[in-house]
Amino acid sequence: MRIVNVVGARPNFMKIAPLLDEMRRRPGIEPLLVHTGQHYDVRMSDQFLEQLGIPEPDLHLGVGSGSHAVQTAQVMTALEPALMELQPDLVLVVGDVNSTLAAALVAAKARIPLAHVEAGLRSFDRSMPEEINRVVTDVLADYLFVTERSGVENLRREGIPEERIHFVGNVMIDTLLRNRERADTLEMPSRVGVRAGEYALATLHRPSNVDDPVLLEGYVSVFEEICRQLPVVFPVHPRTAGSLEKFGLLDRLRRIDGMYLLEPQGYLEFLGLTSRARLVLTDSGGIQEETTALGIPCLTLRENTERPITVTEGTNRLVGTRPAAILDAVGEVLAGGGGEPRRPEYWDGRASERIVNILVERVGAAA
Ligand code: UD1
Repeated sequence: MRIVNVVGARPNFMKIAPLLDEMRRRPGIEPLLVHTGQHYDVRMSDQFLEQLGIPEPDLHLGVGSGSHAVQTAQVMTALEPALMELQPDLVLVVGDVNSTLAAALVAAKARIPLAHVEAGLRSFDRSMPEEINRVVTDVLADYLFVTERSGVENLRREGIPEERIHFVGNVMIDTLLRNRERADTLEMPSRVGVRAGEYALATLHRPSNVDDPVLLEGYVSVFEEICRQLPVVFPVHPRTAGSLEKFGLLDRLRRIDGMYLLEPQGYLEFLGLTSRARLVLTDSGGIQEETTALGIPCLTLRENTERPITVTEGTNRLVGTRPAAILDAVGEVLAGGGGEPRRPEYWDGRASERIVNILVERVGAAA
């Protein structure tokens, strides 16, 4: 069974790593890796592949940045002839980035069976490009692997046939559990210059947050306030770095006492920082899940989440984008509020094994 696995952007790499490991262990599977090149900086791509033991991609499409249409179209144009040549039994895509959608469209039109890992998540907010990518990818996929039960409900509501839906858990948590000790041995807090358990970790990269000068200025003022109480460690995504520069906020941020601005971190470095943080402020999707698995309080600077289990069972709170609301929530976390979080069902390190078992059984039989 030849499987073409497609990755493109940073959050894809930690999802594909345990799947590739699992596929390589099975004698009947020939896993191939295609990297679209959506993310191309060493800090956004190569260091993840290296740290996660992901082999050199069999094919690199070299697509790079562009508008949504350009990026999506370029992945499609480059991938179509590759799939024609490789003739895989399955194309597997993960997550919700533009590369995911582009690969799904090509596979579906070539009538190659398609698997989507992390299917069914919905923010119900079509202003997020990822939401459109999720909805379209799920409509096209033959095998939908779901991380939390809300996803199963969403897919049923959208009329996806039951036999396509598989609730298997979270492959990103497979990677987290495998790498947690390695990450801790890096002693990231002391490397950065803060004390374990006594800093906030922040990330921001959503266009809705960082392309808006008023919101971005609000976050800078939030960091100024938090830093009066505890240091803030902030690895800055390239998009965010660009916006801070453009809106003239970078100097103000740099001048804050107790603010630690870092380059985008590697997987292990970031995990090492997350697992020892007092709290995390983020607009990322994946980090909501990682903090839940680690039991670290997470404040999500968005109005909605496609990962509701991180709120109902985990450590996540949706605090929106208003500085006053964010600071209130920070105050509550620091005062020790919040109940005992639970680790969600099947976030147990074995999701990739479940997925590959299903693929062997279903696709293998057809191949
Ligand atoms: C993409 C995903 C988003 C994911 C995020 C993680 C889509 C629609 N969005 O957003 O879901 O959460 O990745 O980072 O697919 N850039 C670099 N170096 C790189 C890559 C990008 O400098 O290696 C800069 C470029 O200026 C680029 C900008 O970042 O224009 C945005 O990159 P892009 O791939 O369009 O989307 P992200 O914002 O990273």
